[in-house]
Amino acid sequence: MDLVIRPTLHLRGEFSPPGDKSISHRAAIFAALADGTSEISGFLEAEDCLSTLNCLKALGVEIEGPREGKVKVYAHGPEGLKEPEDVLYAGNSGTTMRFLLGVLAAQPFYTVITGDRSLRRRPMARVADPLRQMGAQIWGREGGNLAPLSIKGGNLRPIEYNLPVASAQVKSALLLAGLQAEGETVVREPAPARDHTERMLKYCGVKLKKEDLRITIYGRQRIEPFKISVPGDFSAAAFFLVAACIHPRAEIVVHNVGLNPTRTGLLTVLQDMGADIEVVQQGESAGEPYGVIKARSSSLKGTKIGGALIPRLIDEIPVLAVAAAVAQGSTVIRDAAELKVKESDRITTLAVELRKMGAKIETLPDGMILEGGNLKGAVVDSHGDHRLAMALAVAGLVAEGETVIRGAECMNVSYPGFLADLGALTK
Ligand code: S3P
Repeated sequence: MDLVIRPTLHLRGEFSPPGDKSISHRAAIFAALADGTSEISGFLEAEDCLSTLNCLKALGVEIEGPREGKVKVYAHGPEGLKEPEDVLYAGNSGTTMRFLLGVLAAQPFYTVITGDRSLRRRPMARVADPLRQMGAQIWGREGGNLAPLSIKGGNLRPIEYNLPVASAQVKSALLLAGLQAEGETVVREPAPARDHTERMLKYCGVKLKKEDLRITIYGRQRIEPFKISVPGDFSAAAFFLVAACIHPRAEIVVHNVGLNPTRTGLLTVLQDMGADIEVVQQGESAGEPYGVIKARSSSLKGTKIGGALIPRLIDEIPVLAVAAAVAQGSTVIRDAAELKVKESDRITTLAVELRKMGAKIETLPDGMILEGGNLKGAVVDSHGDHRLAMALAVAGLVAEGETVIRGAECMNVSYPGFLADLGALTK
């Protein structure tokens, strides 16, 4: 689909972003391993999370919904899972594939899992290697690095593992495997990646120990069935927060948005760039803080980001690059080589597409340098990457002239209501 975006006169109003993608995946998977019936509300009804539900159904889990964000999962513990009859399809979702590998590592049966073209290019050795150390058998292209992957699990032994990169998906896959192993599994992170898994495991009665960057999970614990209300996705809200900051006539209020500090690095950076943003935490749901964010037209200046901040805003770098492209002065993003193995190689695709709109970008092996200026409309391509498509739409709102985004349907991967929310705020 070609999406045409024209500069908008204003951006104003209030909205609630859709349910958090990371938390929705986790809620479905943990519910599928629980002993009994769990109920999820605020579940993100987007392609990625539907991929997780479909894979779980193929593994024999009974699931009702999603209907208006409600999902009911009837499960019988990890031993309730069954060998699937066909290949599991994870679509575009790295979270689905990596988490399920962690689950399947302890299952005595044989499973094949694959995904779309983007997912089949993404590195899986980062989960396959430690899971093999725990005793799972995993095969795939490039020695088990690329999907389609097949896996046959069994009795797992616990390991102590130092994650080579800060990755919440790898951390979570190992915690899920460790939960099913005999003994104590230890995972050490190089920097804190999002901690939704740890929070949700605690919420459903699983004991784990967290000492700084070292997490210990005690094996063979049962997950109690749970009820959970998923807060709004900060990463979805991020597109409109940036849009409000860079637009000259903007004032928006975002309700019920997740404020987990391992996710909100963008707020730190925008505030550092001079953004007019207010955040009010209102409560906690299933161990996850949520609240309201107000953002207004601001004059942003360039900044430098790197180090431990990167995992806290890795998914927001596409839209942050748009902010940097129109800020005053230069912005340097370092320590973000992980961008290359996201839904697209985001260092390359961001540079290629934003340059078409007149942005000045130099790419680095682990990031980029952007020189702020004015953007002009152009015909750009999403590369099938949902966050790139939405970031380009935000750029189009402040560019001179018309922007056409080719392949914009990929927005449905994480935010099917993006255009409706955009329409309401620009009315
Ligand atoms: C996610 C973790 C992040 C993030 C992805 C979702 C998760 O990836 O980029 O969109 O739900 O755990 P990493 O595994 O690289 O941290």
